[in-house]
Amino acid sequence: MIRIVFALLLVVSQSLPAAEEEKTLSLQLPPASLEKWYRPANERDVWLHTMFRLRREMQAVAEYAALEDKVRLQKWLARLQKDYLSIGDMVPEWKDELEDGLLKKMRLAADSGDAEALARAQKKLRKSCQSCHVEYKLVAALRYRAPDFSAVKVESEETLDEEEYSRVMARLSLLLNRVKIAGEDGRQQAAMDALDQLEQRLSDLGESCSTCHKKERSREIILGQEARTSLAQVRKGLEAGDDKQTGRYLGEFAVGVCADCHAIHRLQSSMRRLLSDD
Ligand code: HEC
Ligand code: HEC
Ligand code: HEC
Repeated sequence: MIRIVFALLLVVSQSLPAAEEEKTLSLQLPPASLEKWYRPANERDVWLHTMFRLRREMQAVAEYAALEDKVRLQKWLARLQKDYLSIGDMVPEWKDELEDGLLKKMRLAADSGDAEALARAQKKLRKSCQSCHVEYKLVAALRYRAPDFSAVKVESEETLDEEEYSRVMARLSLLLNRVKIAGEDGRQQAAMDALDQLEQRLSDLGESCSTCHKKERSREIILGQEARTSLAQVRKGLEAGDDKQTGRYLGEFAVGVCADCHAIHRLQSSMRRLLSDD
């Protein structure tokens, strides 16, 4: 009997993936009014700080309820109520989603010292926090808080032109591959020219990090001594006509500079772009 059930399960589980091929995932964008509560529209990320306070207030309420400390419990409940209701003031589209009745229940329960009723209502409130989070938390964080590279311009030291990030990136990729192709095919001069340009473009790119990074350190991590050493070794390889040396250090450079910076910045930037409808 058990075996039959097991065999059946196996059939069902094997047929599932086929039925579920072509899954689509849809993401819900938050109401436009949320943007006002983030930089640069606001001086601070007011929304996020309200959320941090809500978490703290939920914790304090649970802790003082357990300690049966009525006075402090009331204090934190009042704060929780105020911040929770401010969600609807900030984003009117979300007003109807709020469960203000639960807050009233919690205060009544606190008044009458009914710890169980308080805990029940708080559990429901937590669910209401979660139901909004499931839908909007990730999207809002990416859209309003991921660094915005679409606004960053890179100035060319040679021509003084300002270029879009995506153009600069396309150029870097082209030059990197040109060094590789020309180097491999023994076109030494073409490879050297491309390498010169690559170094110039990287230096231009490096100047633009300060748009967001006030400290030199972040630039140095990616575009510092290690990157310079790799490219110096590439140059040596080209001069000596040593393919292996060129390839090895070009690869080292591509990982330490391009891939490492992409791991930090590119995915977030792409997600932000995807989620910004303009
Ligand atoms: C109507 C929607 C909504 C409701 C209700 C809501 N939140 Fe949020 N919350 C958000 C959004 C959107 C974010 C993402 C903000 C961001 O990352 O910039 C967020 C983020 C947070 C974060 C930050 C999470 C992190 O990544 O560290 C905390 C903590 C939080 N909420 C707590 C709460 C608590 C506690 C409640 C209920 C008492 C609550 N929220 C109710 C929309 C909501
Ligand atoms: C549009 C703003 C922006 C630009 C431009 C930018 N960064 Fe960042 N960078 C950030 C933010 C914000 C963080 C913090 C982590 C996060 O949220 O992604 C960060 C994190 C980093 C980190 C990891 C944290 C650290 O400092 O150790 C490195 C390394 C880094 N950036 C390097 C660079 C380099 C190199 C450039 C220029 C080529 C650059 N960034 C350009 C916004 C930016
Ligand atoms: C700030 C650190 C940083 C460094 C260093 C960096 N990139 Fe990028 N790259 C990005 C970001 C951010 C994007 C996404 C830009 C966007 O969203 O428009 C990107 C996108 C790209 C793209 C896609 C362009 C497009 O719009 O389709 C290519 C290709 C690329 N990078 C190549 C390179 C190569 C090659 C190097 C190394 C020589 C490099 N990148 C170094 C941050 C970096």
